[in-house]
Amino acid sequence: MKSKIIDLIAANVDALTKDEISELIEIPPKPELGDYAFPCFRLAKAMRKAPQMIAADIKAAIDESSDASFIDEIQVQGAYLNFFIKKEIFVKSMVDAAFDDNFGASDMGDGQTICIDYSSPNVAKNFHVGHLRTTIIGNSLYKIYSKLGYKVVRINHLGDWGTQFGKLIVAYKAWGDEETVKKDGVGELMKLYVKFHEEAEKKPELNDEARAWFAKMEQGDEEALKIWQWFKDISLIEYKRTYDLLGMDFDYYLGESFYRDKTDDIVKRITDAGLLKDSEGAKIVDLEEYNMAPCLILKNDGSSIYATRDLAAIFYRKETYNFVKCLYVTGQEQKLHFAQVFKVVELLGNDWAKDELIHIPYGLVSLEGAKLSTRSGNIIYAEDILLEAISKIKEIIEEKNPDIPDKDETAKKIGVGAVLFNDLYNQRIKDVSFKWEKLLNFDGETGPYVQYTYARCASIIRKLDGYTPSKEVDYSVLTDVDSMELLKEVSRFPKVILDAAEKYEPSVVARFAVDVAQAFNKFYNANRINVEEENIRNARASLVYITKKTIKDALLLLGIECPEQM
Ligand code: ARG
Repeated sequence: MKSKIIDLIAANVDALTKDEISELIEIPPKPELGDYAFPCFRLAKAMRKAPQMIAADIKAAIDESSDASFIDEIQVQGAYLNFFIKKEIFVKSMVDAAFDDNFGASDMGDGQTICIDYSSPNVAKNFHVGHLRTTIIGNSLYKIYSKLGYKVVRINHLGDWGTQFGKLIVAYKAWGDEETVKKDGVGELMKLYVKFHEEAEKKPELNDEARAWFAKMEQGDEEALKIWQWFKDISLIEYKRTYDLLGMDFDYYLGESFYRDKTDDIVKRITDAGLLKDSEGAKIVDLEEYNMAPCLILKNDGSSIYATRDLAAIFYRKETYNFVKCLYVTGQEQKLHFAQVFKVVELLGNDWAKDELIHIPYGLVSLEGAKLSTRSGNIIYAEDILLEAISKIKEIIEEKNPDIPDKDETAKKIGVGAVLFNDLYNQRIKDVSFKWEKLLNFDGETGPYVQYTYARCASIIRKLDGYTPSKEVDYSVLTDVDSMELLKEVSRFPKVILDAAEKYEPSVVARFAVDVAQAFNKFYNANRINVEEENIRNARASLVYITKKTIKDALLLLGIECPEQM
């Protein structure tokens, strides 16, 4: 419908291109203002005429036009042209679009690859709530870009290299034992790491030992690498448990260690470009001209660091995947790090770095008033949060609806969904707080609320004998305000996905899901579905069907599954 209106305006306005018209067209906030609105302010400038007069002229011209048969009425209100589309035609176009299996999908990304670097926990450390955010946001961006036809490469850039592993080896050899590490996994490795720091306060020479072990790792020493690999395997088992709970996966686990033999090349590139500078024994790239602290490339003992490995990863990824974009989802505290690294890539003669390398920061997690079971001290494991959400939901199910099938599976979908939704509902840069009462509420702007609306749609359709979803319905049935408003909400889906992708902002999809759920509940309160008259029943049932399907697809873009009953 929008493109038909664009055509009509374009045929009667010379001063704007179709793309410009398309950008100006608005969806009015209230139904009284029509289905689409076109503001004439921009034209007033170009045509040196009052916008109201221009609006009136365009209306007159369109009223004459035979292509305007789908329009019921055009009203001029101030500088706006408000278009009222013939309701049945409008309903049909929206129902047709939403019925499509690929509703919301696009081929704009065909043949193009996007790399997303996310989750990326640090080996031998726990998978804590901060890493939960990058995992959830990264996964949603993966789904969103895939929906738009891009090939998305999901990369887990594990923090699995660096001097900390030298420390850990020293600690393990001094105070650890195989049995305890096998039994307690990452928890024990973290204890050993803490112990190292306590002891090194008293005995600073431990730091030299640690450096020596890391040097051995860098030189490929078999014993050092064997212990390191073991720590890594243990950590991955725990991380994968969390990924399984979340139903998420990666294409590659290529951690920092993967790039250890690729950093020499980086140093060479920087040297050849004349950018490598000495600074108190270390090697840096000076970024003063760009108002940034220098990017450290080699420490004074000659070892590479986090940034060096990130530089190597960028060139490796560009060569291997030929990405059109590479996204990095991390907390905002890494803003400077990525700005420095991206700048160095650009200074090495790669102009593409400016548009193609993108840091996607997010806010902190706070645990407002929530009592969380923690395994030790204040360290909040992501896994514990998810398990606690699932068990709380299980309690609610046992109390309210103990007869539904697949109780455990349902509790998992709702519990995990609630945590994900809570994370994704607000703009990612905002802080996220965990308040159980809020996040697990079946009312309000929550995952369970949207899932509940889905289950309600599913139940309505289950109870309709002999209804098969069809888009051939009596469109006049769906011309009441509530049905139209619901249809209009649902129809926003393709645009919502584009917006979310453009802004790297899953919250756009989360908010859409709530809007659709709310519009549905209004529609449902106003309209009985299982009525005698078959044309009414079928038309309303089809509206329920497309609502259900769209909610499901929207939540899938957030990584959330919908139970059929709850
Ligand atoms: N391991 C890092 C951390 O936990 C995140 C890595 C992000 N990705 C990257 N290519 N630097 O903070």
